[in-house]
Amino acid sequence: MTSPFADRLGIEHPLIQAPMAGSTPPELVAAVSGAGGLGSLGAGYLEPQTILAQATQIRALGDRPYAIGLFVLPDEFDADMAAVAKAREQLDALMAREGLDVRTSLPPRWAPRFSDQFAALCEARPAVAIFAFGVIAPAQLRELHQRGIYVIGTATTVAEARAWADAGADAVSMQGAEAGGHRGSFLHDAEDAMIGLFALLPLAVRAMTALVRDVPVIAAGGIMDGRGMLAAETLGAAASQLGTAFLTCPECSAAEAWKRDLPHVEDHQVTTIRGFSGRAARGLRNRFVEAMPEAAQGLPYPVLNALTAPLRRAAAEAGRGDLLSEWCGQAAGLVRPQPAAELVARLMYEHRLAARTLTGTQNTP
Ligand SMILES: Cc1cc2nc3c(=O)[nH]c(=O)nc-3n(C[C@H](O)[C@H](O)[C@H](O)COP(=O)(O)O)c2cc1C
Repeated sequence: MTSPFADRLGIEHPLIQAPMAGSTPPELVAAVSGAGGLGSLGAGYLEPQTILAQATQIRALGDRPYAIGLFVLPDEFDADMAAVAKAREQLDALMAREGLDVRTSLPPRWAPRFSDQFAALCEARPAVAIFAFGVIAPAQLRELHQRGIYVIGTATTVAEARAWADAGADAVSMQGAEAGGHRGSFLHDAEDAMIGLFALLPLAVRAMTALVRDVPVIAAGGIMDGRGMLAAETLGAAASQLGTAFLTCPECSAAEAWKRDLPHVEDHQVTTIRGFSGRAARGLRNRFVEAMPEAAQGLPYPVLNALTAPLRRAAAEAGRGDLLSEWCGQAAGLVRPQPAAELVARLMYEHRLAARTLTGTQNTP
C-alpha cells in the first residue's frame, strides 16, 4: 500500500506514534521508526540539553525519520504565590493521608523555556516537529522549513486547523475528544472543543481541501488498531496518530502501575481532568482525581503541573497508580501490551486485512 503522506516523510506506514511528554524515551521512538512508523519524542517537559541528548540517542539507535513534539507556551509564567502556598498545604495533607512520604516543593522554574526548547529542536533537526497548545510564530515556522523540518500543528477544532494552515504548517493533527493526554486546544475552552473524531475529521478535511495548497489531515483520538486507522483514512485522514496504544509497550516509560491498569480501564472511567496539571487532559478517574483538594483546582498550567510532579513521581515509585496521572484515551481498554515493533507490524496487518475485507477481497493480507 502506498501513502503520499508516508512517502513524503520517507516512512513506510501512515502511522505516527504520538509524542507523549514523559512517556516516550528514545528506545520507544527508535523502535517505532525502525518498524516503519514515525516515532515521536514528547519533549514538552524536557530541558534543551536533554532534548539534544535524547535526539542523539534516537539517531544512534537507527537513523530513521522521527519527530520531536513540543508545547507552545510563553517563556515565563506568573503565579499567585498565596494560592500556591494554600494548594501546597492541601496537596501535602492529601499525600500524608494517603501514606505517601513526599511533599511539594517550589521548583526553580514552572516549566522549561519554550524558546530554548525550540532552539534545541532546531539544532536536533528531526524530520518532523509536532506542536500543541498554540501556534508558533511565522519566523519560527520559517526557521523550521529552512532546516527541512516538516511541521505538524495540533488542532481540536476546524478554526484551530485553519490557524495552523494560515501559519504555514505542512499538516494538521486533528485531536478528537476521545484522545488521551492534554487537550491541544488554544482558541477555545477545552470543554467547547470536545469534538468526536468522526465529526471532526470530515469537517477538517473539507476545510483543508478548500485551501490553495494541500494540507494533510492526521487523525488522533481513540484509534487502537488497524481497523481504526482505516476508518480514519476513509474519512479523509492521511495518517493516524496513536498515543494510548503505545503506552503498554515495554519500551514506553509509563509507570508500571499505569501500564497494569490500562487493560482494565472501562470507557466510563476515562474523563477530562484538570487536577494534575491545571490544563484539561483525558485520563483515568482515580483516587487522586476524586480527592483533589479544592485550592489546587484553581491553579493554572504549568504551575499545578510543576507542583504535582514530585507527588506523581513518588506515587509511581510506590506503585500507587491511584495517585498518579494515568492519561489515556477513551478506548484504553483495547491496549495490547507488546514490543513497539510488533505492535506496528500488527497494526499494519490489521489495516491491510480491514481494507481487503471492505473491498470484498478475503485473501490473507
Ligand atoms: C500519556 C499521553 C501524553 C501525551 N503527551 C502529548 C505531548 O507531549 N504532545 C502532544 O502533542 N500530544 C500529546 N498527547 C496527545 C497525543 O498526541 C494524541 O493526541 C492522543 O494520544 C491520541 O489519542 P489516543 O491516546 O486515544 O491514541 C499525549 C497523549 C497521552 C496518552
